[in-house]
Amino acid sequence: MERTLSIIKPDGVAKNVIGEVIKRFETNGIKIAAMKMIHLTKTQAQGFYAVHKERPFYDSLTDFMTSGPIVVMVLEGKDVIAKNRKIMGATNFEEAEAGTIRKDYATNIEKNVVHGSDASETAAFEIKYFFNALEIQNK
Ligand code: CMP
Repeated sequence: MERTLSIIKPDGVAKNVIGEVIKRFETNGIKIAAMKMIHLTKTQAQGFYAVHKERPFYDSLTDFMTSGPIVVMVLEGKDVIAKNRKIMGATNFEEAEAGTIRKDYATNIEKNVVHGSDASETAAFEIKYFFNALEIQNK
């Protein structure tokens, strides 16, 4: 059993694909252990993406992530970090496999609909960034 953080980004929320994204998780056997909709401030987006602060796209990315509400979720299941990444597809939607969320809905490398933790250490940091222990179902 493993946990990962998933975000439906402002472009995904604006496109009305919240249900479609969640359906893909559920039909692949992934459980939603926590979920909420929030609108990040610039400072909150900068803190979440601090690992990218030296990258040229940091300012644009953190602007985009504050441009509208997002849906944050804790996903749970066996090998869920890798499984979620497969369902999302490559960061660059042009390189994503057919049938992945990003191939189907992303419009550019930044507006790529979803975020998912890339490793267990980042998953732990990212889950804690958005949820406290009481907000995560423990079954
Ligand atoms: P995400 O998986 O949330 O991780 C970092 C985000 O930065 C990425 O998805 C994209 O939304 C955004 N981004 C913008 N430009 C790039 C780039 N050139 N390479 C990687 N990520 C980028």
